[in-house]
Amino acid sequence: MTEVRVAPPLVDVLLGPAERRAALERDVREGLTATPKRLPPKWHYDAEGSRLFGEITRLPEYYLTRAEREILAARAGDIAAVSRADTLVELGAGTSEKTRLLLDALREAGRLERIVVLDVDEETLRESAERLAREYPGAAVHGVVGDLEQHLGELPREGRRLVAFLGSSIGNFETAERAAFLRRLRGAIDPGESFLLGTDLVKDPARLHAAYDDAAGVTPRFSLNLLSVLNRELGADFDLARFRHVPRWDPERELVDIRLRSLGAQRVCIRALGLEIDFAEGEELHTETSAKFRPSGVELELREVGFDVREWWTDEAGDFALSLSEAV
Ligand code: AVJ
Repeated sequence: MTEVRVAPPLVDVLLGPAERRAALERDVREGLTATPKRLPPKWHYDAEGSRLFGEITRLPEYYLTRAEREILAARAGDIAAVSRADTLVELGAGTSEKTRLLLDALREAGRLERIVVLDVDEETLRESAERLAREYPGAAVHGVVGDLEQHLGELPREGRRLVAFLGSSIGNFETAERAAFLRRLRGAIDPGESFLLGTDLVKDPARLHAAYDDAAGVTPRFSLNLLSVLNRELGADFDLARFRHVPRWDPERELVDIRLRSLGAQRVCIRALGLEIDFAEGEELHTETSAKFRPSGVELELREVGFDVREWWTDEAGDFALSLSEAV
């Protein structure tokens, strides 16, 4: 194969290693001294956590990724036509296999000029920006290392943009945070530009439960990896064998609530923070929320901040939805 020379992607680092470290320290100190104890889900994604999440997306029980891919494969052309975008902005650069379906459709429509990818993890971001620059040599690739809750206002504003937030990642926000996120996002988008949002839908609790507690045990390993991140980065001494992954469907709030339950009373030392944390037997540490949605709720939440839903698509089974909205 011949080497194709392409301009190296431009990468803006809005969240450098020092700020990232300060945010981790703050989140861990606040979360582990709070009652009940909690940690934000974003710290799951070191290299191993990202690899484990990739494994989750291929599990038989985890229908989300396949369902969303099915919709994108069927509707990418419509998304390009309705949005008339020349710039794709992807929030959470991820693995980008699904992004390619969108990029190919924009390219086929003859409009693809620019690709912007935002991710918290600099290594993941650089890799995905470089790969995209090689695969779409006709497009300018711009990477942004940043946090979804802090840096939306600093996204590049050139072009007519289609902003994509896929995978039901929005489900990781609690209700109030989600509203704040959508409002800030709407503030970063000009009228006439588009927002493509992936949302997992409310369904049979048994299927939801299985998706977050798979037979092969990959999801528990993903959850427990959060403790490995703290062990490595903050010199903590969590014994992973003494915590258990406990996902629960909350029918009132319509979300999967994920916790790590302490097996026995134990004391954990977080050396870098000079903290000693006691866990009672059976005490739970909240690590993740995965909200599930109804069509009317998504439409309302979007409308409330100034997005009009133009298209709503689900997979054949009706498990997952993609909405395409216009900023108004
Ligand atoms: C990446 C947030 C969409 O909530 O389904 C999967 C993360 N956690 N299994 C989800 C996750 C446990 C995932 N999101």
